[in-house]
Amino acid sequence: MSTIKPMTNSSNNTPSAYEHGTPAIELQNVTKLFRTPSGGAYTALQNLTLSVAPGEFCAVVGPTGCGKSTTLSLIAGLERPSAGEVQVMGKPVQGIDPRIGYVFQTDAVFPWKNVLRNVTTGPLFRGQSKADALKSARDWIARVGLAGFEDRYPHQLSGGMRKRVALAQTFINGPQILLMDEPFSALDVQTRTMMEDELLNLWASSSASVVFVTHDLEEAISLADRVYVITAGPGTIKGIYHIDLPRPRHVAEIRFEPRFVQLYQEIWEDLRNEVVISYERTKQKGR
Ligand SMILES: Nc1ncnc2c1ncn2[C@@H]1O[C@H](COP(=O)(O)OP(=O)(O)O)[C@@H](O)[C@H]1O
Ligand SMILES: [Mg+2]
Repeated sequence: MSTIKPMTNSSNNTPSAYEHGTPAIELQNVTKLFRTPSGGAYTALQNLTLSVAPGEFCAVVGPTGCGKSTTLSLIAGLERPSAGEVQVMGKPVQGIDPRIGYVFQTDAVFPWKNVLRNVTTGPLFRGQSKADALKSARDWIARVGLAGFEDRYPHQLSGGMRKRVALAQTFINGPQILLMDEPFSALDVQTRTMMEDELLNLWASSSASVVFVTHDLEEAISLADRVYVITAGPGTIKGIYHIDLPRPRHVAEIRFEPRFVQLYQEIWEDLRNEVVISYERTKQKGR
């Protein structure tokens, strides 16, 4: 898998798109409507504009139902925009793109396969020889701290360990774009912090551009270079924040840094209102 070229001048007369600063991901004025059972239309996203630079880690934060998962589905080519444009590496998204890795909240591991066979699935599917796939899988299993667990089945693993399998399964394919949909939200707080650090390490040694969706502002700030705040549905961008905390970061400690607290307060001002709107709506529906 090729890596993204840095943005430097090239002696070549036809420099790659990245040398002109083409974003890895770009959504321009995207609107997404869903049909309702009564035959109407529900606006999930409205005029959403978002861009992710090559190698950048972006977090998208917003209340439940604001359209975060829908945004990822559009980038992954699982859904099409009703209006506006979605581009990946400078080209409109058309169907599923093998350069994109996707990690969901629920485990996407195969329950009937052991760890080793789960992690080899991707490379084998891509046509790698069995010997190469096994070698690479063993490497990745070790990198996510699961050496010795190759023969275990998912039900014999803790939630955190299953997430490690999911990370190995994803990173083994060398994704240029990584979409993560609240991947750690079902984990206990300690495990979650460890997985966040693990993710930052894996990402640092890759060239992947990341969109990490979460409803947790602390998680968003700890991980990202840039945080997008989305409004309560229909989702649109409410604020964009550059996170100037130094790397490498240790997620457990960074939240005590004065700059972290300052960023948190600033972004929470933006997010609070949207959370209240979303909460009031859920209450009304529950009546
Ligand atoms: N396939 C679909 N059909 C109809 N409505 C949908 C569909 N997918 C999502 N929605 C609606 O769009 C809104 C945004 O959903 P989603 O992107 O899942 O939000 P989030 O991930 O931020 O919680 C929600 O109100 C949801 O019910
Ligand atoms: Mg969601």
